[in-house]
Amino acid sequence: MKAIRVHRHGGPEVLVYQDVDARDPGPGEVRIRNRAIGLNYADVYYRTGEFPAPSFPFTPGLEGAGEVVAVAEGVRDFAPGDRVTYYCPVPGAYAEEHVVPAHFVIPLPDSIDFATAAAMTVKGLTAQYLLHRTFRVESGHVVLVHAAAGGVGLLLTQWAKHLGATVIGTVGSPEKVAIARRHGCDHVIEYRTEDFVARVKEITGGEGCHVVYDGVGKATFPGSLDCLRRFGCFVSYGTPSGSIEPFDITTLAIKGSLHATWPVLPHHLARREDVLAMSESLFGVVASGAVKVPIHARLPLAEAAEAHRRLESRQTTGSTVLIP
Ligand SMILES: NC(=O)c1ccc[n+]([C@@H]2O[C@H](COP(=O)([O-])OP(=O)(O)OC[C@H]3O[C@@H](n4cnc5c(N)ncnc54)[C@H](OP(=O)(O)O)[C@@H]3O)[C@@H](O)[C@H]2O)c1
Repeated sequence: MKAIRVHRHGGPEVLVYQDVDARDPGPGEVRIRNRAIGLNYADVYYRTGEFPAPSFPFTPGLEGAGEVVAVAEGVRDFAPGDRVTYYCPVPGAYAEEHVVPAHFVIPLPDSIDFATAAAMTVKGLTAQYLLHRTFRVESGHVVLVHAAAGGVGLLLTQWAKHLGATVIGTVGSPEKVAIARRHGCDHVIEYRTEDFVARVKEITGGEGCHVVYDGVGKATFPGSLDCLRRFGCFVSYGTPSGSIEPFDITTLAIKGSLHATWPVLPHHLARREDVLAMSESLFGVVASGAVKVPIHARLPLAEAAEAHRRLESRQTTGSTVLIP
């Protein structure tokens, strides 16, 4: 089968499209023919070496959607032909087929097509736990979402709005302002040209937000802490602009008895019942139309390098899917 392989860390050019052998599923595993593969910022980290490579050469990619082609003996929940979507904690999805632990495989409702599933599984499950488990967003809350026009960002903004929050989004270009607004942002700040802390204070009448979802990192820290009201919650969940410098924990006291956390998806998916409950919650808001899954680019799998170039240079909005 065809797959993207990485033989050494480096720029997008190290993503090589080549032939590899498909393998049979081992105990507890399911083999899936990918119909669509999701692009995630973490794929960049595995490529550059910021996240450790599983081995060399390796196939990147953390999510896909397609049909089950084989199951290991003893796997009861799936059978060949089933429509599924999946997250995989060990990369390997940039391929025509992938073998995944059944634990992370999710039955796909007929109403959701494969591209939509691949565009929303990692990003949507992340939005689900950020809004419902990390901090419980409720009607009346004021929420700040950084990189609001991004993959996770556009799902977070729509879902937070659906929960009754006032949503403030930051974005990196004028074109992204319109996109963020269309997806539920009440206020949009261009944080490359505007002082986002001053603007948040102005919008909230000096009060600040209940929660900041920060998937940007170095460029928005410590400003994000200054956007919070007393007892507010700083949720750091990604660092495309670079890692946050270590900071003194008493900063949280000084800035208003704040809470700060860095959650990750694999911890939230550690129990099978949570995989199913979180995906049911996600499929529910998508089926009702409350959250639309914005697929703003579809590229052939062979063009994964181009997809990485666009993601790293901040050209993408919403989700990008790769089609094998
Ligand atoms: N913790 C978890 O469980 C978890 C799970 C999924 C994703 N994540 C993280 O969530 C974040 C968003 O992921 P995504 O896949 O949806 O990506 P994305 O938001 O679609 O793309 C990244 C965005 O970050 C912004 N950005 C700011 N500074 C940047 C810089 N120096 N270089 C590149 N981009 C920069 C850009 O938006 P602007 O131009 O608008 O600034 C860019 O479009 C990533 O950090 C990812 O690692 C975490």
